Amino acid sequence: MKLIRHILFIFLLTLIVNGCAYNNFEELYPQTINNNPCDSSVASTYNLSVKYILSNNCLTCHSSDVAYGGVVLDNYESVREQAQKGALMGAILHKSGYQPMPPGTSIPQCQIDKIQQWVDANEPQ
Ligand code: HEC
Repeated sequence: MKLIRHILFIFLLTLIVNGCAYNNFEELYPQTINNNPCDSSVASTYNLSVKYILSNNCLTCHSSDVAYGGVVLDNYESVREQAQKGALMGAILHKSGYQPMPPGTSIPQCQIDKIQQWVDANEPQ
């Protein structure tokens, strides 16, 4: 009887702890849902393209909460700032003098192109 109560207690504790630790990425970053960032019929603006690419590839390390290297990429103003000082494309294109991003890999070429078009068009919102 004591053993059963013990097991039940552990079981409940597990439920409670897991319940609190539950984090749904799409709930935290709703902008990740429903988008094909390479769709050529979609204009390369921040709201239609760029934010989806960044949230799928960069926000785990560059949200306002995490901000590795002090770089925040979860809002228009901050992304534009990184673009205008050259760090955004420098990092994505692995240019010398910049930390290559994402670390150890590249995003797909069509997504790089989308972001480059956005920068070339002076970062339309
Ligand atoms: C796994 C974590 C991680 C991911 C994912 C990631 N970054 Fe970073 N990023 C870092 C870290 C850590 C630094 C700081 C590096 C340093 O200062 O040495 C950094 C630095 C940067 C910088 C500053 C680079 C410089 O040399 O000035 C830019 C811009 C940047 N990241 C953009 C991006 C973009 C764009 C993406 C997505 C395509 C991305 N990062 C994905 C971890 C990440």
